This record gives sequence, structure tokens and C-alpha cells, in this order.
Amino acid sequence: MNKFYVTTPIYYINDKPHIGHAYTTIAADVLARYHRQKGDKVRFLTGTDENSRKTVEAAKEAGKEIKQYTDEMAKQWQETWDALGLTYDRFIRTTEPDHVKAVQDIIQRIYDAGDIYKGVYEGLYCFRCEQFYKEDELVEGKCPIHKVKLEHIKEDNYFFKLSKYGDELLKRIKDDPDVIRPQARHNEVVAFIERGLEDISVSRASQEWGIRLPFDQSQVIYVWFDALINYVTGSGYPDKDYTEWWPADLHLVGKDIIKFHCIIWPAMLLSAGIEPAKSVFANGFFTVDGEKISKSSGNAIDPIAIRDEYGNDALRYYLLSEIPYGNDGDFSHERLAIRYDTNLANNLGNLVQRISTLIERNLDGEIDQVKSRVKLDQIEKAIHDVAFHTALSAIWAELSKLNEEIEQQKPWELAKNDSEKLKVFLSQQAADILEINRELKPFLPETAEKIQAIFSAEKIESPGHTLFPRKDLAK
Ligand code: MSP
Repeated sequence: MNKFYVTTPIYYINDKPHIGHAYTTIAADVLARYHRQKGDKVRFLTGTDENSRKTVEAAKEAGKEIKQYTDEMAKQWQETWDALGLTYDRFIRTTEPDHVKAVQDIIQRIYDAGDIYKGVYEGLYCFRCEQFYKEDELVEGKCPIHKVKLEHIKEDNYFFKLSKYGDELLKRIKDDPDVIRPQARHNEVVAFIERGLEDISVSRASQEWGIRLPFDQSQVIYVWFDALINYVTGSGYPDKDYTEWWPADLHLVGKDIIKFHCIIWPAMLLSAGIEPAKSVFANGFFTVDGEKISKSSGNAIDPIAIRDEYGNDALRYYLLSEIPYGNDGDFSHERLAIRYDTNLANNLGNLVQRISTLIERNLDGEIDQVKSRVKLDQIEKAIHDVAFHTALSAIWAELSKLNEEIEQQKPWELAKNDSEKLKVFLSQQAADILEINRELKPFLPETAEKIQAIFSAEKIESPGHTLFPRKDLAK
């Protein structure tokens, strides 16, 4: 039996989840469901990154104790994923005791390997990114991502010998094209490493909130060092059977955080004597109606609001079919409504409605068991390539074939003059719908369950209502 261990980034809790966070987490859910359906042993990990200074500031802003704030926010994130029907196996919080233990254990291993030393760090730090920047990386003197002024920090820190691992990282990346995907991100990381890696500061002297260094209690571990280790904690580390899950098969991340996942993280593991994850796949960024999603512009779309209006499956379908996973894209209500009406309500919903109604009315709900003609062998490769849109197009091409066949064969006319032929036709359509539905299930789990119930019933009945009530496109 194959195992499949998939992770999402653990999210900062200074705000509630928006559509961008839902995007990566839904993608992981599709993969987890696909592998479970295939019979693989699956672990799907997501959670919250709580030891950041942002947490402290957000708690202060909310007028709450840090502990109370983190508990409330983690609950809100978890409840959002539950409302979206996401089937994570563990929701990890970096304030949990087993994570603290794993972090201290790993950092001690890195220290024992001689890869951590003390020094003075002086530089410009962005607290939103939780990272240092060099002068030449700034845009108009500000953080290139958040466009805020950076803080000048000078303090005694511990450093990690990242510079030592450049060659080994390059070799891993170049030997196996799956290590970093898609290709653009692979190239970006290779170019970055080839310019030469510098050691990085991995502790903070002037911070209270966070996990302490085991060999110097006066310092707090750099939040990214702590956060990345969540993936190993989630496999059960340091219990010796953590290798039942580790190395992770796939880290899904956004393209904003690939250097952490493709450079710092594998180097930490190599230093600690642990095998790095097999693959990192970075998704692109969603803008909203052309604008970057940000707290300040107030354009963050709440995935729950979309669910309330269109349903979970429509949200999944839209996010994963609209743009090739890995590319940037734009979230537009109009496009969502169009895709909903055309592809879900028409191509899929109507098909199910028409065929089940014809069977109920003309065949008294009974069909012959026949073999499906559908072959969707390409889905396995699409899933391996994390090419959701390819898988969905292949599925929709099959649905189109069935719809076209209905137009050609005109079963409503067969119903009047050739009931034998009608039964053959409808039995075949029903078998094909069921086969397509099996491949559809990881993507549209709620809908697929309804379709399965309809067509595998002893007596097929029309659901009596459409699976996707049409929306008013003019809205
Ligand atoms: N806490 C760190 C991750 C630590 S992982 C060890 C972090 N958190 S975050 O809350 O900022 O979430 C970042 C991730 O959310 C991105 O990498 C991406 O997966 C997802 N997205 C956030 N905004 C997004 C878009 N606008 N579009 C697509 N994905 C986005 O960084």
C-alpha cells in the first residue's frame, strides 16, 4: 500500500482565512481524497503558525490575552476548514506541546551537528514577512511585499550555516524534477542558490513570545525555523515510527514562501540527519478583481460567503478549473457565476436531471447493468502533476460527449417509438455517468455523493430538484 503525506502551509492567525488560504487548502483536500479513494494510506496536515510577533500584536489590538486570542483564532480557522468540508487528518498548532518538543529536538540536532553558531545580526526586518531583507531587495526603500518601512535590528543571534548546503541542495533539485514544481519556481530557486547562500539568523534575543532555544533559554527560535518543523511534528516525530509518514510526499505552498520550503527547510533537515520532503509544489496568487488581496484594501473574500451563495463544490470547482495550478489568477464573481451556470448547472446538473428523469418516467426506474465506455486514465498523471485543471477538463470533455449524444439520439423521441433502444441508450448513459462520477468525487465530493446515490439506486429516481440551481448572471 502506498502512503501519501500532504501538507499545506500553516497559516498566520492575525487575521481570518480568505480565499487565497482556502485555495491551497482545498487543493490539498482534493489530493488527499483522490489518494484515499485509490486505497492509499493518507495523512493530510494543516494548521496554524502561532509563534509570530504578529500574533502578539493582533492580540494586543483585539484587547485579548495572547493565549485566549490564539485559541479563538485557531478555532476560527479550523471551523472554516470544517465548514468547507476539508478532510485534514490533523490540525496542528505550533503552540502545542508535541510541536515545541519536536522543534527543540531538531534544533538541538542541528546544534550538535555544528551548524549553529553565535554572532551579531544587523539588518532590516519585515515583521509581516518575518524575514530580513537586504538593501537591494527593497522597493523604494520598503518591504517588496508589504510596502511597509522595515525595522533596523541589531542583536546577538544564533546563526544557521545555510551556506554549507548550497551544493547538496542543488544536486537534489537538479536530480529530480519533482523536488520543486512548477518549472518556473524550480528555476527561481536554482538561480537563487547559484548566486550563493548566506547563513541565516535563527533566534531572537528581544522577543518573549515563541519557543526557547534548548541550549540558550534567553533566546526565542526564529518563527520560520519553528513553523517549518510542524511538518515533521505532524508525522509523529520524535517517535521513532515517524518514518511511517516521513518524508512528506508533497508540501503545497504559495509561491511567496518557496525559499523557506525549498532552501532553508531541506537544509535544516539535511543538517539534522533527516531526509527532506519529496516534493514542493507552489501555487500562484489569486488577486480579486485584479487587485492584490490585502487586509488594508479590505478586498479579502471570505470563502464561507462563497459557500453560502454557491456551495462548497462550486467553490472548489471554480478555484481549481479557472487557472492552471501554479499560475497566478484573478478571482472574479462574474467568472464564478458564469462557470457555475455553464459547467455545473448545465453540463453536469442538467445531464443528471435529464437522464434520471427519463429513466424514472419511461423505464420505471430500472436499467440494465452495462459496462461504461468512459476511460479517464489521464487523471492519474494529472493528479501526480498537480494539474487540477487538466483533470477537470478531461472530466468535462466526457460530460460533453454524453450531452452531445443526448442531442443526437433524442431519447424523448425514442420514448415514443422505440423503448428497447431507449433502455439501451439510458443504461449506457447511466453507466458512463457513474464512471465519470467516480473521477469527479475528489473534486466535487458533495455532488458526487448525490449522483452516486441516484444512479446506483435499485430504482432510479430523479432528485426532483436540480443539483445546481441556476444563478442570475446579470447580477
Ligand atoms: N505562516 C506562514 C507559512 C508557514 S509554513 C511552515 C505563512 N502564512 S500565511 O498565512 O501568510 O499563508 C501563506 C499561504 O497562504 C501562501 O503561501 C499560500 O499558500 C496561501 N495564500 C495566501 N494568500 C494567497 C493568495 N492571494 N492567493 C493564493 N494563495 C495565497 O506564510
